[in-house]
Amino acid sequence: MELKIEAAKEIRGTVVPPPDKSITHRTVFFASIAAGTCKIYNPLISDDIRRTIDVIKKLGAVVNEDDGKIVVQPSKFSEPSIPLFCGNSGTTARISLGLIARSPIFVVLYGDNSLSKRPMGRVVRPLKTLGAKLNGRNGSLNLPMSVMGGNLHSAEYTSEVASAQVKTSFIIAALAGDDVSIYTEPLKSRDHTERFLEQFDAVEVKGNSVIVTPSVVPAFSTNIVGDFSSASFFLTLGVCHPNARIKIENVGLNPTRTKFLEVLKRMGAKFEIVDFHQDVEPYGTIIVESSELYGIDVNAEEIPSMIDEIPLIALAGAFAAGKTVVHGASEIRKKESDRIKTTVQILSKMGANVEEHEDGFVVEGGHLLHNGTVETFNDHRMAMLASIAGICSQGVNVREAESVSISYPSFYSDLERMVAK
Ligand code: S3P
Repeated sequence: MELKIEAAKEIRGTVVPPPDKSITHRTVFFASIAAGTCKIYNPLISDDIRRTIDVIKKLGAVVNEDDGKIVVQPSKFSEPSIPLFCGNSGTTARISLGLIARSPIFVVLYGDNSLSKRPMGRVVRPLKTLGAKLNGRNGSLNLPMSVMGGNLHSAEYTSEVASAQVKTSFIIAALAGDDVSIYTEPLKSRDHTERFLEQFDAVEVKGNSVIVTPSVVPAFSTNIVGDFSSASFFLTLGVCHPNARIKIENVGLNPTRTKFLEVLKRMGAKFEIVDFHQDVEPYGTIIVESSELYGIDVNAEEIPSMIDEIPLIALAGAFAAGKTVVHGASEIRKKESDRIKTTVQILSKMGANVEEHEDGFVVEGGHLLHNGTVETFNDHRMAMLASIAGICSQGVNVREAESVSISYPSFYSDLERMVAK
């Protein structure tokens, strides 16, 4: 679907971003192995989350959705007779591998074209150290992949990538090990899994290591906060548009997710956080307005805590005075699309001065963006990036705009509500 986005004279209003995708995936997975019925209030219901719900159902869990909540009745897993489809969702595929590794069943996972190209070796290696048997295409680097689990032991594993999906996959499997396991990552990735499991003393965090004690997750009820990554499109709209004021309510503010706020502050962005709640997952309201931005340098240590927001730094850089440089971000080439390439392609097609580097990009700000038609490579975050770029400049035609249903099904209606043409 090609969608025409028009320039807006004024942006005003309040948005409540959709519930957090990472946290919804995790609570659905943990509910499937809990000791009793679990209730998940305010879950995200999107294409990616559907894939995770389908996986746990096909393994035996009973899932009911009603009135803004998901109720999961866990059950001992049984072997599905057909392969399980993970769609476009890296989180579903990678965490499912760890989930299935816990049980003595044979399961095959597969995905769509994009997911079939994404690296799985990073999750196969740690799961093998716990005793799981995995076999996949390309020497077990890609889906389709089979898992044969059960009889897991303990392990100490140091990962070469800072990936919360890989970390969670290891932890969910290690909870079924025969002794304490330790997972260490090079830089801290998002810690939703640790925060959730710390409530039951199942894990302990020491620096970049997580110590996992074999445990049963008790039955739980939980409420999901808004997704910071989805909110970031409106943050960027607020700071880049010349006449904007936006209130973004109920946004998750977990510090392992919000580095983008610090980056925007360094660029001169005007925003304030009000109504902050310190909880297992902190949350609050962000009020953001049109800002005079300056180019900055972003370095490798900052990347994991804003892994999904890097393309938005390029967009903010296009509206900033001077040069914005991002280093150490080659990991985003392995997302739903090669996000260094696709960001550079979309923004240069619209007239920005952006240069692609192996591990990032350089944006020379101050070149006015113009109208055009852009491919977004079936990547939800690229469709939203292009739409925000268009609304802040002269409009844009966004191809494959329907992909927003992966993480933010109501993105276009939320956007429409705050636009005065
Ligand atoms: C996610 C972790 C991130 C992120 C993805 C969701 C998660 O990936 O890009 O959108 O839910 O754990 P990595 O941490 O694997 O880079």
